[in-house]
Order: sequence, then C-alpha cells, then structure tokens
Amino acid sequence: MNARELYRSKLLTIPEAVGLVRSGQSIATAMAAAEPTGLLTELGNHRDRLRDVTVWVCLPLRLYDFILKPEMSGHFFVENWFYGAPDREVHPQGRTSYIPNNLHQASSGKLKASQGRVNVYWGTATPPDAHGYMSLSLSLVIEKQLIEAADLVVLEINERLPRTLGDTQIHISEVDHVVENHVPLFELPSAHPAPWEEAIGGYVADLIEDGSTLQLGIGGIPNAIASLLVNHRDLGVHTEMFTTGIVDLFEAGVITGRRKSQWKGKMVGAFALGEQRLYDFLHNNIAVELLPGYITNDPYVIGRNSKMVSVNTALQVDCYGQVCSQSIGPRHFSGTGGQLDTHRGAQRSEGGRGIIALRSTAKSDTISTIVPVLTPGAEVTVPGQDVDTIVTEYGVAELRGRSVKERTEALIQIAHPSFRAWIRDEVERMGIVPRLQVPGYETQTPNPA
Ligand code: COA
Repeated sequence: MNARELYRSKLLTIPEAVGLVRSGQSIATAMAAAEPTGLLTELGNHRDRLRDVTVWVCLPLRLYDFILKPEMSGHFFVENWFYGAPDREVHPQGRTSYIPNNLHQASSGKLKASQGRVNVYWGTATPPDAHGYMSLSLSLVIEKQLIEAADLVVLEINERLPRTLGDTQIHISEVDHVVENHVPLFELPSAHPAPWEEAIGGYVADLIEDGSTLQLGIGGIPNAIASLLVNHRDLGVHTEMFTTGIVDLFEAGVITGRRKSQWKGKMVGAFALGEQRLYDFLHNNIAVELLPGYITNDPYVIGRNSKMVSVNTALQVDCYGQVCSQSIGPRHFSGTGGQLDTHRGAQRSEGGRGIIALRSTAKSDTISTIVPVLTPGAEVTVPGQDVDTIVTEYGVAELRGRSVKERTEALIQIAHPSFRAWIRDEVERMGIVPRLQVPGYETQTPNPA
C-alpha cells in the first residue's frame, strides 16, 4: 500500500473517531493552537454513552461543551497542565483540576503517574507529503511522548496548519486513524504596546546585549518587548513559545542566530501561538526548528546558550523575591509552564539573565503587584532562591545573591510610588526586615491584595 492508500484506509469521520472512546478511559490532547478542535467539539455529543472519561489538556483555546457545560459532570473530568480563560470559569464547578508541573517534565510526570499509559491521543497534523510524512505543526511540547504512550492515536488533519520543521514529522503508519477538519487556526492577536509596557520594554531592551539568545514568554509584556528590540543586532531565539514578535525581528534582520552557541543560525522552540502571519512564517521555514519540550525547556540545555536572556511576566512579587505568575491568591489562574525552566536555564548560561517583568500595579492602579509577602494561598512560580532580575515601569531590581533587606529596598524602588511606604511599613511591622531605610515615601495606601 502506498502512502496515499494507507492514509485513505485510516480515514474516519469525526463522530466515528470519537465513537472509539470508552467509559473510564483517558484521552490526552495536543495543546494550544495544535488542539484538535473537531474531535474536542464532538466529544460533548457523546455524553450519554460515556462516563468517567478523563481528558488531559494544556491551554485549551476554544470553548468546548465537554469542559463548559455543567451537565457534563460525571461524564468528563479535565486535568489541565495550563489554564486558559474557560478553565478558570469552570474550576469553581469542580470539573477540572490543575496538574502542577515544570513544562520540560510535564508529559513524563503525568505518564509516570498513570503507569506510563494513556488510552487515546488526539492531536493535529498537516496532510501527509508524498512519502507519508505529516508535520505535528504548532506544538511539540508534550505531543510525541503522548503519542508513543497511547494505545490509540488519532490525528485531525488540517491543510491550513503550517508544515513546521525540526522533530515534528510523523509517518502515517505510526497513527491508527485520521480525520479531516480544515478549519481556520486559532489566532492570538498582538496589541500595540501601552505606554507602561513601552517603559518596561525599554528597561528590558537595555538589559539585552547584542548577540544574546532570547526566550520570550506568554503575556502582553513579552510581546511588547519584542517590538522594542528592533535596533539590536544578531539576536538568537531559544524559546518555549514562538510569538508573532519574532517574525518582525527576523524580517528586520535583528534575529540572525549567528552568535548562538548551539543551534547556530536556527530558532528553536516547542510551540507557536500568535497571528496567522506567524503561522505563515513557520511554514517550511528552515530557520525554525520545533523540538520536544523536554529538550527546549531543560534548564541544563538552555544554560548551554551563552548570553541567554529569559523574559517572563508575573502577577505578584514579594520582598523575599518569590514570584507568583499562576494564581491570584488561592484562585488558580494559568500555570508554571516553562517559566521556572527558562528562568533557571538563563541563569545557568554564561552572561545570562532571568528577567521577570511586570506592571507595578493591577486592577486600575488600586493594588500593588510588588507586595511585602505573597497573598495567602498564592502559588510560587519562581522561588526566592531562584529569582534574578525584576523589572517594572519604574526600573530594574537585581535580586540575585542579595539579602532580603537588599531585595526589599530594591523592590520598593521599583514599586508604584503610592505603595512604597505601605510596603516598607508592612515588612517592618511583620519583622521581615526591621528598620528599613528607604527615605521619602510618606503615602500610606492599604493594599487590598
Ligand atoms: N492581583 C490581582 N489581580 C491581578 C494581579 C494581582 N497582583 N496582577 C494581575 N492581575 C489581573 C489583571 O488585572 C488581569 O485581570 P483582568 O483579566 O480582569 O483584567 C489578569 O490578572 C491577567 O493579568 P495580565 O497582566 O493581563 O495577564 P497576561 O495575559 O499578561 O499574563 C501571566 C500574565 C503572568 C498570567 C502569564 O504570563 C502566565 O501565565 N505566566 C506563567 C507562565 C509563563 O510565564 N510561562 C513562560 C513560558 S511561555
């Protein structure tokens, strides 16, 4: 049988493919923009014949009935490596739970906890080429490991997916079934940077030397930073997530990868999420390699880049230097993702730096994100012993190797002026740093956080 005939022999309709799932099974899916939209949409229609099905997802992007509808309770339970907006909504209803993880170990950790098996894998891929090879396209974070561990592998073929290069190829003989669903890809629009984002971006851009290799994380601030690096030279990319910002930097000749110490001349990453022009850029692009998350995000691998700079964002930072990026108090918000991986990796690198950049306030300037101690119940994403550089629109605080007293003083300097006296008074009152000397901040504003 040639590749084309093999493909045809494996082709099912979407309802037929979902019909293969049995009660009590686990389904693992491809993540983010690689999620199998047709299969996940259909799953809710099988509610009446399925009970106790566990679905492992990571940053689901669309609104699916099996996640959102209360009547799915008892039929489907979602275990999630990284929450998006729908998961936050459903969480209080008790039909979903977060899987704490560092991204480079996510799938191996979950598979270990499940005795190495997953019943069903659903992912996406491009149509096969003449030799029968498909590209897993927009994510390689956990997908290949899950495919290898699954008893049944079904890929949703979408001809709009870019044929990304690197380790993305899979042969039609390696999958059990394919379904076709040629839908538009999910796009994450990049907004024009706000003035405060430009201020943060300016400080971060100053910390990035020509010839550095970058990781830019998820969120508004890393996106804004990309737009402020247009005057840099010979930057490289070793990231977890490819964003639209890299397209402009590559086209402006800023990203060349010429001075990278590994994967010279190539941009490496594990998944892509952005606008259509990012996906067009990735198609057949020999300058880009998608590699599994256990490689891209391994801090030891990241640390072999010289001048590696990671830029991530956060929700709160306290005076010990503890960073919370994944919860608002006890309310789970997103996930660790690769933040700790990349932050640690950057600090292992010769001349490297781990940057956490965040706005100094939230909720229309009513609360400070720089706090004396994290809100009770907050999840620590970067522990104080791993923290390096914190940037807000008021400047840069270098915390690595500094005492709690020095950290507190440095963080007060980059907090919003209305909250500086409050932070000082609170750390003194709690005895974290008695008798601080940070003069000139008289305003007393309580922080509701
Ligand atoms: N207290 C209470 N609420 C806060 C807050 C704080 N200290 N800081 C921010 N918020 C609120 C914001 O007001 C906003 O609320 P809204 O949606 O009602 O306006 C919400 O939290 C999200 O904040 P925002 O700054 O817009 O989020 P973002 O989209 O820029 O994402 C993170 C920021 C930190 C959530 C995101 O980067 C993340 O999940 N990081 C962890 C994973 C990671 O960095 N991986 C790196 C590799 S890709």
